Amino acid sequence: MSSNTERSLVLIKPDAVRRGLLGEVLSRFERKGLVVEALELRTMDAALADQHYADHVDKPFYPPLKEFMTSGPLAALILSGDEVIEVVRAMIGSTDGRKAAAGTIRGDFSLSNRENLVHASDSPESAKREIDLWFPNR
Ligand code: TYD
Repeated sequence: MSSNTERSLVLIKPDAVRRGLLGEVLSRFERKGLVVEALELRTMDAALADQHYADHVDKPFYPPLKEFMTSGPLAALILSGDEVIEVVRAMIGSTDGRKAAAGTIRGDFSLSNRENLVHASDSPESAKREIDLWFPNR
């Protein structure tokens, strides 16, 4: 059986921290068998938000998204494991919590298209870019 160990940048967003769901979300990743390589509680500032969401800064939903993402502490993680990028995307579910499948993190805990608990890199290229941004020494 071939394996493809990768790394993903995951954010457990301010809504999850505020709601006391940090442990629940982290625990799901740990129980899956993913490895926590880095973990830091941080508050995103405006400059980091603009860099992290470079693809979205011109979209109409960006100003309220930026307001939300900078509204309080979040947990930034590097997770590693076999096919971790795809595995984590499947675990978090689709963007809109109202449409995300039950059993996924967003499907189980979010009713929002914005406050959806988790960010996860969506490709090897974005994982590299985002890890360099959040954890420049890793
Ligand atoms: P996106 O990269 O499309 O989704 P995902 O987080 O599932 O990769 O969008 C980034 C974030 O932007 C998303 O998690 C929540 C926010 N967002 C909105 O607030 N409104 C929207 O209409 C969309 C598409 C996203």
